[in-house]
Amino acid sequence: MPHFVWSSEYELGIPVIDAQHKRIIEYINRIDDVLSNDTSQEAMNAILTNLVDYTFSHLAFEEAMLEEIGYEDFHGHQLTHKTFTRLIENLCHRARQGEPVAAELAAFLRNWLLTHIMSEDARYVEAVHEYLLGNEAGRRRYWLHKTVTRYFQ
Ligand SMILES: [Fe+2]
Repeated sequence: MPHFVWSSEYELGIPVIDAQHKRIIEYINRIDDVLSNDTSQEAMNAILTNLVDYTFSHLAFEEAMLEEIGYEDFHGHQLTHKTFTRLIENLCHRARQGEPVAAELAAFLRNWLLTHIMSEDARYVEAVHEYLLGNEAGRRRYWLHKTVTRYFQ
């Protein structure tokens, strides 16, 4: 699978979220490198673990943000994350059993993420801007910094 080149069309205009999405794509590209370089299964498992950990932290952060702003479709959004998480956990389980699932996991995660950004994520942008980033947000902006530290340290 060739590297995916990030493009501004996938940017939501919420810097903290865009940075996380880009980082997930970078992890996925790293899997492609490992696949084409015939690295050990151990190295691949380490990369998969990092990718999955980071992705799950991102989803948890996003849910905390949507809950914080009182997003009207919070539960619907959370449900799409849950369904996705279950599928990823299933792939991880297969990886632990020794199945070579890296390419499948990378392709699935990439397709899911890009589709999710353009559909479900795009729908919360206005609400986030209004509540956390807009002129009236004031001290609420601080919440983002504080919460990023909590989820990504
Ligand atoms: Fe999401």
